[in-house]
Amino acid sequence: MHSAVDRRELKNAMARVTLERRHTAGCELLPDRGHLLDEMPKGAVAAEIGVAFGDYTREIMNRTDPARLFLIDAWATERYREGLAKIRSDWAGEIDAGRIVIEQGLSTDVLPTLAPASLDWAYIDTNHAYQTTLEELELCRTLVKPGGRIAGHDFCTGNVIDAVPYGVVEAVAKFCHDHDWGFRFLTLETRGHFSFCLEALA
Ligand SMILES: C[S@@+](CC[C@H](N)C(=O)[O-])C[C@H]1O[C@@H](n2cnc3c(N)ncnc32)[C@H](O)[C@@H]1O
Repeated sequence: MHSAVDRRELKNAMARVTLERRHTAGCELLPDRGHLLDEMPKGAVAAEIGVAFGDYTREIMNRTDPARLFLIDAWATERYREGLAKIRSDWAGEIDAGRIVIEQGLSTDVLPTLAPASLDWAYIDTNHAYQTTLEELELCRTLVKPGGRIAGHDFCTGNVIDAVPYGVVEAVAKFCHDHDWGFRFLTLETRGHFSFCLEALA
């Protein structure tokens, strides 16, 4: 648990970037991240980064019917460790067929091992820390094909129940500013755990 001073220091260490109108001009609001999947290409090559027990994996499979889905997760903590066995059991047929590919490890270790420009889209949902999210965004930029999308969960300032500051909003803003990417979709879940989806501008 972070103290209030720690939380302020964490927030102060994140870049403060102001976006311009062009970064948001092409953005459409959606009611939730399920609808975001309906906007993703069908039969695509995709990656879910941060998988846990596979709740969103099932949505991805049902709503986008991917040709190949990479599932990347450390599955290292007590809270999430058993997720890997569940995924292996739930999707045994798809894993055997090579349609689902499991990559266990830290996102920042696994992502550099994937082929450049091999993904149509990626969805980031790991620890939501500023540095991790920024690194994941940077790595995903080299992995998505031209015209590809980078999406992710918890586009909000933090977990208000456990008082954990997130860096997703700040990292996404810095990434858009530095690389001229913009928002294509933003979801507006009524519990405040929004998802973003970005595309390269121009
Ligand atoms: C919030 S859960 C993912 C939930 C899932 N996307 C869903 O919507 O059902 C976060 C997951 O990210 C994983 N994780 C956290 N930090 C990570 C990192 N740096 N690299 C890889 N996985 C990480 C955890 O093991 C956990 O399973």
